[in-house]
Amino acid sequence: MGTIPTASVLGSVMMLFFCSSCTVPVDLSPEERSELEDIRRRKGALLQEIQRLREELREAILEVEGLETSTEGSKTLQKSRHVAMGRKKFNMDPKKGIVFLVENELLRHTPEDIAQFLYKGEGLNKTAIGDYLGERDDFNIKVLQAFVDLHEFTDLNLVQALRQFLWSFRLPGEAQKIDRMMEAFAQRYCHCNPGVFQSTDTCYVLSFAIIMLNTSLHNPNVRDKPGVDRFISMNRGINEGGDLPEELLRNLYESIKNEPFKIPEDDGNDLTHTFFNPDREGWLLKLGGRVKTWKRRWFILTDNCLYYFEYTTDKEPRGIIPLENLSIREVEDPRKPNCFELYIPNNRGQLIKACKTEADGRVVEGNHMVYRISAPTPEEKDEWIHSINSAVSVDPFYEMLAARKKRISLKKKEEQP
Ligand SMILES: *[C@@H]1O[C@H](CO)[C@@H](O)[C@H](O)[C@H]1NC(C)=O
Ligand SMILES: *[C@@H]1O[C@H](CO)[C@@H](O)[C@H](O)[C@H]1NC(C)=O
Ligand SMILES: *[C@@H]1O[C@H](CO)[C@@H](O)[C@H](O)[C@H]1NC(C)=O
Repeated sequence: MGTIPTASVLGSVMMLFFCSSCTVPVDLSPEERSELEDIRRRKGALLQEIQRLREELREAILEVEGLETSTEGSKTLQKSRHVAMGRKKFNMDPKKGIVFLVENELLRHTPEDIAQFLYKGEGLNKTAIGDYLGERDDFNIKVLQAFVDLHEFTDLNLVQALRQFLWSFRLPGEAQKIDRMMEAFAQRYCHCNPGVFQSTDTCYVLSFAIIMLNTSLHNPNVRDKPGVDRFISMNRGINEGGDLPEELLRNLYESIKNEPFKIPEDDGNDLTHTFFNPDREGWLLKLGGRVKTWKRRWFILTDNCLYYFEYTTDKEPRGIIPLENLSIREVEDPRKPNCFELYIPNNRGQLIKACKTEADGRVVEGNHMVYRISAPTPEEKDEWIHSINSAVSVDPFYEMLAARKKRISLKKKEEQP
């Protein structure tokens, strides 16, 4: 084709495009003029070509539509339109979507067929799938069972199986639903891999430990990253009282460490943040109960209690505040910045149940209607409030797991009378 325009011609063309007032390029040599003419010609030809392609495309579309209006075609078209509509409805309201698909004879109302539809998941929102599978009614529970049975876990290690499972839908946020789903998962895993675990409870408990490990290792907000040895020791005794092979735990740990779990529709609000032991420690100022002075204390939040120490190295705390039944709120204090307060909701003059050690070593009851505390920075204040709030709210996940662990330890006792 034509020669490459010289720099000066290009400059002139740019002028034409960018400077609307310069309609006539000035100072063009005869060669430049002819090159410009050439460019204009090619542009004209291109525009014609575009027009021709448009017409061709329009004809093709008409042809396709013609095909679809023939009787055979129209049925398939209507069907696929209905399926698309059903998926849309499902994503907005899973139950209604299923009803629509069943009424239009696009889906049979059996747990197996619906499970298959959800497992394929084409065009379905995984949050909606999770909502449907999490429903409490008997039918949905059967669908959940059939859905889980469609997963093939044979010869996968637990992390690989969890990756597959947790990617197939988004786990809903409620403890009861998660419990049912993870129970179904554990049963399926044990069915596909007999002999790996002593019981489904073991598989269930370890699955949670792994999900939590994922958050510990990969969530930037969790500072304390457990090493493999801690992970191993945390899972002592969960195999019906016995230990799981260290090799197995090491492999699972490495797998998670190398690649975090992905969950669909991940909005950063991963489920596991609720599992986290919101342990925290740091220097805070505490306002005295009787004598209103601010004392610097080393605070440790653990086991649903707030402990405070005079020095970080002290073995015995100066005081213990059980957080049961307490609430926390931000407050303004004229003397200290970044304050928050522990208080009893609807308090009618009660003192907070707590204890402290007097200078002479006597342990006495605390003397606080509220505990007012000042953090060094606004960020630390927010973090303390967040952690204490998580510690005081009843955590159904902990209870769920505790129940399983108890079951495992009871079984162990039965076996060793
Ligand atoms: C799926 O549904 C959830 C909840 O309704 C919504 O937040 C999310 O954006 C949806 N995802 C897609 C890909 O549409
Ligand atoms: C694993 O951790 C990553 C990073 O925090 C998070 O995005 C993901 O949702 C977590 N997966 C699960 C199953 O909790
Ligand atoms: C918390 O409230 C419950 C129910 O009112 C009560 O039984 C329990 O003793 C309270 N615990 C503390 C530490 O005050």
